[in-house]
Amino acid sequence: MPKLLVTGASGYLGSALASRARDAGWTVVGTVGARPGAAPAGLADVVALDVRDDAAVASAVRAAAPDVVIHTAYVQGTDAPAVNAGGTEHVARAAADAGVRLVHVSTDAIFDGRLPRPLVEADAPSPVTAYGATKAQAEAHVARLCPDAAIVRTSLIYGGPGHDPAAQERPALAVARGERTDMMFYTDEVRSPIQVDDLAAALLEVATTDWAGPLHVGGADPLSRLDFARLIVTARGHDASALRGVAAPVDRPRFCPLDSSRARDLLRVRLRGAREVLGGA
Ligand SMILES: NC(=O)c1ccc[n+]([C@@H]2O[C@H](COP(=O)([O-])OP(=O)(O)OC[C@H]3O[C@@H](n4cnc5c(N)ncnc54)[C@H](OP(=O)(O)O)[C@@H]3O)[C@@H](O)[C@H]2O)c1
Repeated sequence: MPKLLVTGASGYLGSALASRARDAGWTVVGTVGARPGAAPAGLADVVALDVRDDAAVASAVRAAAPDVVIHTAYVQGTDAPAVNAGGTEHVARAAADAGVRLVHVSTDAIFDGRLPRPLVEADAPSPVTAYGATKAQAEAHVARLCPDAAIVRTSLIYGGPGHDPAAQERPALAVARGERTDMMFYTDEVRSPIQVDDLAAALLEVATTDWAGPLHVGGADPLSRLDFARLIVTARGHDASALRGVAAPVDRPRFCPLDSSRARDLLRVRLRGAREVLGGA
């Protein structure tokens, strides 16, 4: 079986991806940041790696000698330029130098959402948030250094019942449980939430293709942040009436559903909508 290097194997997506690949018989090496214990058990190796360290990234890729690198590691906040843009540049260079296939995980947040239709791969990045700008820079590094790499743009990642709540689920659950009262949910920011196992399966499939360039991989249902929050809480047995909606401020992306028809043609995995997964269909 092929060998996979997953950056961010301690993260929400990276750990699901590493487990899935392990269970499918891949030899998996995972890299971790500050939380080594969060990587799944049973990997061939777990290595500490800060992607901001160019030489360390090159040496980790050389040492693992994988067939494929799937790059999920990222942060939000002040370190985002160095980790997301700089770190991705290092990963792309290391993969190119080693002649290794790269699948880079990107985001719908590279778009401003001002078009009145779902976003296709050919649409130009136009980030309106600082985070989106770092991920757009990351894509540019990948395209320049590793033109054969796949750049998988995805949307809000969630688990649903039976999974630990993702970062995208926790605020809605906290409001529904009465633990937070300060939070409202945008009624006009529309995204394509995707279940983490569907995304992990899609990434593994993309790894085995020669798809090059952007590929949109979102869930089938475009949903506002408020409608998504309602599905999240009702799926876990909570009353959604405490969730309140608000218009998004001007500096947020707006209408960003991903047109994932190319991915649906290319891949076997079904990219389920959140209504189907969370039981609100
Ligand atoms: N979450 C979403 O809704 C969403 C939406 C669209 C796209 N995405 C994309 O999906 C990917 C994964 O997201 P996620 O939510 O699964 O992330 P996550 O749970 O926050 O995990 C991030 C991972 O990156 C690692 N990391 C952080 N800083 C690092 C550094 N300097 N060097 C090396 N590794 C570092 C973390 O390691 P430690 O925890 O061990 O420190 C962790 O394993 C990202 O590329 C993100 O842009 C996410």
